[in-house]
Amino acid sequence: MSIHIGADPGAIAETVLMPGDPYRARWAAETFLKSPELVNDVRGMLGYTGTWNGHRVTIQGSGMGMPSFSIYANELIRDYGAKTLIRIGSCGAMQEHVKIRDVIVAMTASSLSTPSLGIFRELNFAPCADWGLLRAAVTAAEAKGAPVHVGGIYSADVFYDERPDLNEQMTRHGILAVEMEAAELYNLAARHGIRGLAVLTVSDHLLTGAALPSEDRERSFGDMVEIALAAAFS
Ligand code: ADE
Repeated sequence: MSIHIGADPGAIAETVLMPGDPYRARWAAETFLKSPELVNDVRGMLGYTGTWNGHRVTIQGSGMGMPSFSIYANELIRDYGAKTLIRIGSCGAMQEHVKIRDVIVAMTASSLSTPSLGIFRELNFAPCADWGLLRAAVTAAEAKGAPVHVGGIYSADVFYDERPDLNEQMTRHGILAVEMEAAELYNLAARHGIRGLAVLTVSDHLLTGAALPSEDRERSFGDMVEIALAAAFS
């Protein structure tokens, strides 16, 4: 057990998919894994371990935002020996050519700050994805025929942003979408020498105001989960 994860030693797989929403962790585990078992329910942050094509996988909720994500990722790495962490989540599109339901594979993650700011201080570290995972995810997305974009994303600290000028600068600099966790995932992966990737589904559009109808969410998010699983074990 770790402070925030109640799983027994050995109950977490080396490969962990991390949605923000614990209920999405349950849905993904029940939909895509064989024999999923609940391994964590501390604070309702559900985690399940099962197999996919014979490979052991854990799907563990992370909560929203980098501080929450950092707690779960740190404990998965330090206390349970996780070697591959793949964030699966939603994002808001920041470019006209990116559409609702499209999949984004995040090459880099810009941010105003992350929980790692305390150690980086004046250094502008460039958090980036694991190249092998990223390449495998793009190959898997193309094989499925899923509309996929590869590029930089923005990991924001706030959902209700009072500084729209920042979003405008991100759009101007070609950033594909905004979410709230990937930059710290990439920082932690670099620090601990593990593989990190964020595969995202566009749920809303900052430029058009469009949003994914809630009844469409599961089907759209399914592509993302399958792409993440295929990438992890390619
Ligand atoms: N996740 C999904 N949509 C988002 C948005 N518009 N801003 C931040 N995170 C998001």
